[in-house]
Amino acid sequence: MKRRILVTAALPYANGPIHIGHMLEYAQTDIWARFQRARGHDVVFAWADDAHGTPIMLNAQKRGMTPEQLIEHFGAEHRRDFRDFAISYDNFSSTHAESNRELVEEVWGKLVERGSVVTRTIEQLFDEEKGMFLPDRFIRGTCPKCGAENQYGDSCEVCSATYEPTDLIDPRSVISGAVPVMKSTEHYFVSLKPFEQGLKEWLRAGALQTEVANKLEEWFEEGLRDWDVTRDEPYFGFRIPGTENKYFYVWLDAPIGYLASFREVCNRRGLDFDAWVRPGSDAEMHHFIGKDIIYFHCLFWPAMLEGAGFKRPTRVQTHGFLTVNGTKMSKSRGTFIMARTWLDHLPADYLRYYFAAKLGPGLVDIDLNFDDFTSRVNSDLVGKLVNIASRASGFIHKFGHGKLAAGLPDADLYAAFVAEHESIAADFEACNYASAIRRIMALADRANQYVDEHKPWQMARQVDREAEIVGVCTQALNLFRILMIWLQPVIPGIAARAGDFLDCSLNDWQQVDQPLLDHPIEKFAPLARRVEAKQVEALMEDARESLAPAASEAPEAPELELEPEITIDDFMKIDLRVARIVEAGQVEGADKLLRLVLDLGGESRQVFAGIRSAYDPKDLEGRLTVMVANLKPRKMRFGLSEGMVLAAAGDSGGPFLLSPDDGAVPGTRVK
Ligand code: MSP
Ligand code: ZN
Repeated sequence: MKRRILVTAALPYANGPIHIGHMLEYAQTDIWARFQRARGHDVVFAWADDAHGTPIMLNAQKRGMTPEQLIEHFGAEHRRDFRDFAISYDNFSSTHAESNRELVEEVWGKLVERGSVVTRTIEQLFDEEKGMFLPDRFIRGTCPKCGAENQYGDSCEVCSATYEPTDLIDPRSVISGAVPVMKSTEHYFVSLKPFEQGLKEWLRAGALQTEVANKLEEWFEEGLRDWDVTRDEPYFGFRIPGTENKYFYVWLDAPIGYLASFREVCNRRGLDFDAWVRPGSDAEMHHFIGKDIIYFHCLFWPAMLEGAGFKRPTRVQTHGFLTVNGTKMSKSRGTFIMARTWLDHLPADYLRYYFAAKLGPGLVDIDLNFDDFTSRVNSDLVGKLVNIASRASGFIHKFGHGKLAAGLPDADLYAAFVAEHESIAADFEACNYASAIRRIMALADRANQYVDEHKPWQMARQVDREAEIVGVCTQALNLFRILMIWLQPVIPGIAARAGDFLDCSLNDWQQVDQPLLDHPIEKFAPLARRVEAKQVEALMEDARESLAPAASEAPEAPELELEPEITIDDFMKIDLRVARIVEAGQVEGADKLLRLVLDLGGESRQVFAGIRSAYDPKDLEGRLTVMVANLKPRKMRFGLSEGMVLAAAGDSGGPFLLSPDDGAVPGTRVK
């Protein structure tokens, strides 16, 4: 039976670049969508940028742009990144699009009509300098429970207490530093209690992973509170109909963006929107999300859908977070890697393959370990998979005029591969890609074994065995073809090249049933190259250099991410010295670096510093700064870097090079 399937991935904030943490989700989603298409189903992957909210408004202000310009800029960048990662979305819209405004107003109208919206006057902290109400994450102060300083308005990172921002001791606006004052305002709330029964039925109906369903039950036990969906001016979003200065909270219009994007596809292709999304329809709706946004997708969203007369999601598939080399992605370690930086160094397919090999159906975090990555890609993709084709293809041209034999010498082996077909499909269906990859690679081993046992290269040295050789290689290439059909959703780039080489399409899973016989093939061209250690090094170096602002990492407010606490002894190990910049110049081939020659009072050091965006080298010569003088020298592509200069840098601009007051003598210790 042909299924109709709407697929979505969480909408990235149009506020910063895409990084490989996002790509974990987007690869997971895309693999699933491609798999379903290859099975012959009707798939629409409808997607968009999430364009609204306070952070986007403030980010635009900071850059001297309008929010529209900002979201346009990142929208274009996101599309380029996704195209180059082979994400096969059918539509990429924006939650700021008119199509979304229409649908948001429709949904809202329905919620109002059925009495799900209540108004209440609330007291909220207000920044008088900025003239705006402050979201919880834009207020910091001392935790009322444990006394830890500098905590967010909603929860304490030290003792995990949650509270109201008004409970904070000594609160401050993160935006202006002003002491906020209480001000009252009228807000609209969606009451969730009436949806509890429906949600409870849904949560055990197979739409959710057990861990997620359990979480939801905890929330029910705590009691569902009404959801505040209002934000006061100034705000970048859709104005609430019938108000002058009130806007929908970004999380109200964001998921509706899934359906608005889908409706754009319907209009374009003449599909019947209602026939897909109304209760009773057998069309499916699958959302892929990260574990940080379960609340929005498993409570608010299904409630809104029910309230507005839509069917609830068929499935919400939640994944864990990406770590790199065992820890949270970090800029200084070179593991906060933007999608674009990855593409500058390594093929998209390699990351897609690695993620697939590690992704199970659960919520566990996924670690990208670069040693493991390198050996997996090299041994699985290059060593096992591509190897089958590269060993077999030459003989087909040499002894078979470039044409596959008319029959398979080992039909049983072919049948043994086909016998795994439904298990592999079931793995993909269940998002257990790791299991699918294990099965596929075990079969790749068998295909290589087959070639090893028959040794066509030995037969080639004997007389009259041409037909046999072509038979063996036809067998091998047919096994390779099955493996590539299964892997096409995962590594579409390599699969496309393999399809060119075999001169057949690999996008249809049904074709596994019939071997490819008596069929001309092209000359073999390398399908994948080995990953070299120096490529990974260059990638991480580049990631370290391009300290690109990662607004999407901390969507709500700039967050102080402190390194683990150290002792004074630890600190004293760092030998900081006053230094004079005697030479500064650009570095060929590194557009973020400057090469500095520093004088430490007689001794001179060469340092490569990522400060080119902020400084003209001429202006630096003669200037005093502070350097880490006992840092282990590091070989870079351009030469030896013998230390580090200190600069303030981060999301809020910079870098700003540190300097001691005039009069400090080069070589003096700083402590
Ligand atoms: N805009 C919201 C989603 C709205 S959906 C109606 C949002 N955006 S986000 O850009 O912060 O994140 C997009 C998706 O990427 C989320 O599902 C999030 O969980 C996922 N990830 C962001 N960082 C991630 C990792 N480091 N690892 C894995 N997934 C990550 O949330
Ligand atoms: Zn606390």
